[in-house]
Amino acid sequence: MKQTILVTGGTGYIGSHTCVELLENGYDVVIADNLSNSKRQVVDRIQEVAGKAVTFYEVDVADEQALARVFAAHAIDAVIHFAGLKAVGESVEKPLAYYQNNLNATMSLLVVMSRFGVNKIAFSSSATVYIDPAPPIREDAPLGCTNPYGWTKFMSEIIITDWQKTNGDNAAVLLRYFNPIGAHESGKMGEDPQGIPNNLFPYITRVAGGAYPHLNIFGADYDTPDGTGVRDYIHVVDLARGHVLALKYLDAHNGALPVNLGTGLGYSVFDVLRAYERASGKEIPFVIQPRRAGDVASTYADPTLARELLGWTAEKTLDDMCLSGCRWQSLNPNGYED
Ligand code: NAD
Ligand code: UFG
Repeated sequence: MKQTILVTGGTGYIGSHTCVELLENGYDVVIADNLSNSKRQVVDRIQEVAGKAVTFYEVDVADEQALARVFAAHAIDAVIHFAGLKAVGESVEKPLAYYQNNLNATMSLLVVMSRFGVNKIAFSSSATVYIDPAPPIREDAPLGCTNPYGWTKFMSEIIITDWQKTNGDNAAVLLRYFNPIGAHESGKMGEDPQGIPNNLFPYITRVAGGAYPHLNIFGADYDTPDGTGVRDYIHVVDLARGHVLALKYLDAHNGALPVNLGTGLGYSVFDVLRAYERASGKEIPFVIQPRRAGDVASTYADPTLARELLGWTAEKTLDDMCLSGCRWQSLNPNGYED
């Protein structure tokens, strides 16, 4: 039978790509997003790319009453919970805003899910919950965080796990993403950060688009092959597919399972820069800067569990990530415009 999935944060970067995968896999999709970090126009793009309709609600997931109205209007089978604030630096400056938004959203969602008898959830966690990671990182590596954003993911994992134990029918998958980049191959959907991007990939796309003169490389003296930081970059469409497989897993299993979503490969800043140069045919000027506070030298996933339990492996290459990101950037130099 056709299932209806509530996607919180569904107009955001990862949520929007996941909505397309869900629609293409025969699910009905209801989006709840307060548009605090996304635009309404994304709803049109999702529908255009998938060729199917979604139902969109502009609601704050932390608002229990508003959320209950969404659940009352639809027979929701499962929830994918993306809604949250995600900027590490901003979370250090505004810790209470992060704890309030991210934790209240998770708790209000679980309260309303319980009230309506919805017992399956896939949650957007992050590799940031691993403390001092020694790659390749398995799910049983030591946990701990260095900033309020990370702690909201850590605490949400605990809250969801405790909720899961209260009812034998409850089931949760805690998806720990590594570094999602790239865009939909149509060039119609991609990442659209507001203001100056904090992350490597959107910054590179903006240098290529002429918005900034050069990339700042934060440290070239790490103990890595070329001295720059190494990360596990994962194509956003591969990541989105992982959510569809997580839902299928939830159909057949209970418990609360943490799972890495990463490729298992580590690429340096220079690897990404050179791949983007190949994809765009443009030179990306760079300036070596001091290390960025809080950065580690190298981190990448052991993705074995996702393969064994979800049947998921990343399929797309770094070149695919750069080509799709480049297409999105050149077709939408100002992101989603109103
Ligand atoms: P995003 O900001 O593009 O999407 C998040 C969406 O949630 C936005 O559309 C925003 O408007 C919405 N939102 C925030 N608070 C809300 C609330 N209280 N009620 C309703 N909507 C709300 O971010 P993204 O990159 O798509 O990330 C999605 C999720 O994945 C986030 O939880 C993020 O922390 C997590 N994550 C992202 C990354 C990454 O690098 N992008 C890595 C690991 C984990
Ligand atoms: N980097 C630069 N220049 C930039 C931006 C980044 O050289 O302008 C470097 C960083 O120093 C790092 C690498 O590029 O070596 C990747 O940095 P990102 O900011 O793109 O990604 P992070 O791995 O630091 O952070 C990401 C998510 C966080 C999450 C973290 C851990 O953005 O939300 O992974 O999972 F917490």
